[in-house]
Amino acid sequence: MASTRLAARGWRCLCLGSGPSLAAWRPLAAGPALHTTCSSSSSRGQQQWAGICSSASKDAAAAAAAAAAAPPSGPLTYIPERIGFIGAGQMGEALIRGFLRSKVSSPGRICVSVKDVERQDALERLGIGSIFGDATDGGSRDVARFSSVIMLCTKPQAMGEVLASLAPHVTRDHLVISIAAGITLQTLEAALGEGVRVVRVMPNTPVLGECFHAPTHSHGPHASDADVVDLLLSSVGFCLAVEEKQLDAVTGLSGSGPAFVYLMIEALADGGVMAGLHRDTALALAAKTVAGAAQMVFSDDGGGGSGGSSSLGMVHPGVLKDRVASPAGTTIAGLAELEVSGVRGAFIRAVNAAAQRSRELAG
Ligand SMILES: NC(=O)c1ccc[n+]([C@@H]2O[C@H](COP(=O)([O-])OP(=O)(O)OC[C@H]3O[C@@H](n4cnc5c(N)ncnc54)[C@H](OP(=O)(O)O)[C@@H]3O)[C@@H](O)[C@H]2O)c1
Repeated sequence: MASTRLAARGWRCLCLGSGPSLAAWRPLAAGPALHTTCSSSSSRGQQQWAGICSSASKDAAAAAAAAAAAPPSGPLTYIPERIGFIGAGQMGEALIRGFLRSKVSSPGRICVSVKDVERQDALERLGIGSIFGDATDGGSRDVARFSSVIMLCTKPQAMGEVLASLAPHVTRDHLVISIAAGITLQTLEAALGEGVRVVRVMPNTPVLGECFHAPTHSHGPHASDADVVDLLLSSVGFCLAVEEKQLDAVTGLSGSGPAFVYLMIEALADGGVMAGLHRDTALALAAKTVAGAAQMVFSDDGGGGSGGSSSLGMVHPGVLKDRVASPAGTTIAGLAELEVSGVRGAFIRAVNAAAQRSRELAG
């Protein structure tokens, strides 16, 4: 049983306050493993937790009650709610793999509605037990029955018919998370009905590495929904909350950005080849250089005494650049070439053009 495994690993189940989605497994900071029964005013919540938690000693129950009364502390680590995916292509499958790898969910707590058999086979290999058919042919109904968190992962073009098929089955007890570019909260709410809890997120393709997700909330979500979304998306990358009006800019920067960086890596490798390196050596050095340089931005080492540290714990890239460029050295010679070629302006225009295109696609 999942609870036994978690408790054995020193985790405990906490009820975090109000609302049906407020339960989570957290690492046990100190003391014996706690294994208890959670309850909630929500019958839905009771039903969900019943399968996770079993009865415990009086001491443990008392400790659990105290923990439940106390404000939540530390990050959430586990989503007990069942998660349903409608569509599991490139991005949907990457998210499923990430949720499983990070253990915020488990195969038995995930269901998927897919169209073609090949996708079903791939998901079965991941251990997903509940795989339903086409969303427009009963799949949406099945996903809504199985899960309380629903991830909309079809292309924007398919979203109209997917939303129409989901609307009769989705209730206020569901949290709907859309990853579709350009489909606004207003559109989602209008299609799914008043009061449905809807969140938009904007992942990017290197979803299993460092990446941005941009959750933005409609008026409906419970306060706890932010925690659920944050945990899910932080489990597969880097998660930042932004206002919905900023999502096109997020799409232009972190959605399209990986392609801009790939082009940069390719060009750096070409430079290495031109300077005499073998292709493989040049490509490996280029990719590692970009990865290492990006990591340095988050190093916040405070070194060099020149400041430039941000509230998010980042070092300004200009500060890092200046540290590499020594007087009359190789780096400043290369930087001068980049400035002459207008590379800085080209990146600015690329991100802006992608954001503009995102606005156009949203209509
Ligand atoms: N890929 C990215 O880099 C990226 C970045 C940010 C946001 N997004 C968003 O993520 C969403 C998915 O993109 P993607 O790249 O993962 O697309 P994708 O690979 O084409 O995946 C979409 C999946 O949805 C399935 N689907 C379509 N209609 C369905 C239905 N009625 N019932 C069940 N499944 C259905 C498709 O099945 P079939 O193939 O059989 O039609 C496909 O497997 C899009 O809305 C996109 O805007 C993607």
